[in-house]
Amino acid sequence: MNYTNLGNTGLRVSVVGLGCGGPSRLGQRAGKGTDHSVRLVRKALDLGVNFLDTAENYGTEEIVGAAIRGVPRDRVVVSTKKIMPEPGEADPAGTMRAGVEASLKRLGTDYVDVFHLHGVGDARYRFAADVMAPVLTELREAGKIRAVGITEEFPANPRHEMLQRGLQDPWWDVIMVGFNLLNPSARRSVFPLTLEKGVGTLVMFAVRRALSQPASLEKLLREMEQRGLVEPGADLGFLTENGCAGNLTEAAYRFCVHEPGADVVLTGTGDEEHLEANIAAALEPPLPPAALERLVALFGEVDSVTGN
Ligand SMILES: NC(=O)c1ccc[n+]([C@@H]2O[C@H](COP(=O)([O-])OP(=O)(O)OC[C@H]3O[C@@H](n4cnc5c(N)ncnc54)[C@H](OP(=O)(O)O)[C@@H]3O)[C@@H](O)[C@H]2O)c1
Repeated sequence: MNYTNLGNTGLRVSVVGLGCGGPSRLGQRAGKGTDHSVRLVRKALDLGVNFLDTAENYGTEEIVGAAIRGVPRDRVVVSTKKIMPEPGEADPAGTMRAGVEASLKRLGTDYVDVFHLHGVGDARYRFAADVMAPVLTELREAGKIRAVGITEEFPANPRHEMLQRGLQDPWWDVIMVGFNLLNPSARRSVFPLTLEKGVGTLVMFAVRRALSQPASLEKLLREMEQRGLVEPGADLGFLTENGCAGNLTEAAYRFCVHEPGADVVLTGTGDEEHLEANIAAALEPPLPPAALERLVALFGEVDSVTGN
């Protein structure tokens, strides 16, 4: 495994993080038992992954808690999140404080390394910054949280407007952004800011459905063609030809891991073999320059799809 600094947080993190949400939720969505998911998290730790991303909303905090029981606490970086309460609620700050305590309990730990506001849309950013950020900052000072984070609502906000606003503020130690070879727009609008400000950066949607399921990719490319986003007949066959990459999913993770500014690329899976393959992919060198140039020519201007 390779390790890097998570922005200026002082946290040293594996370049691959295990995403415990997404379509797989560690296999929970496919009806796999808790034992299966706990084993998967432990396997990731055995393979050198030290970054685990979960959320109240995924229902996998207890699984992460069970998997890290007995592991020295400073060997693992735990990231979790909570969806913001409604602004009209009587005591939103109290709800968020209680949410952090509940996460700590489910995770079986007395601090969380990164605690995020989960899936914040552009329209709710003011509430996040003015009401929620001070609460998380206070909890960071109290030692319950080591870094304050915010994640975007990528499907509703594939152009990253919320993060572009948020990165003008001093609140966020860490952000999570959607980025993949089909929509690399964070390269222009987000990574320059995170790099300049030393904000730790987590990548989600590296693969999702379009880059792991050939039929989804074909459907998406034809839709993009109809919308005039890609040239007619665009396809990604070149990524798996002439020794470029073993398969498309490998190419997709390699694309993200070598992106300047992407500290941790999350991989979400419920499958041990996929986990092993994805970690191996991340340790491969960057895609060849000719392939990267072709991707820029195809998708360099795309900022309206997610690959889901
Ligand atoms: N707003 C937010 O805060 C937010 C939103 C979305 C995600 N997230 C976080 O980001 C993490 C990563 O997102 P994601 O889970 O969507 O991850 P992803 O890695 O982009 O895609 C996961 C999908 O790809 C499949 N897959 C993975 N490896 C594969 C392989 N080698 N071969 C074939 N299929 C493969 C998985 O199915 P299998 O189970 O079959 O492997 C799953 O359906 C999430 O788990 C979550 O922690 C945060």
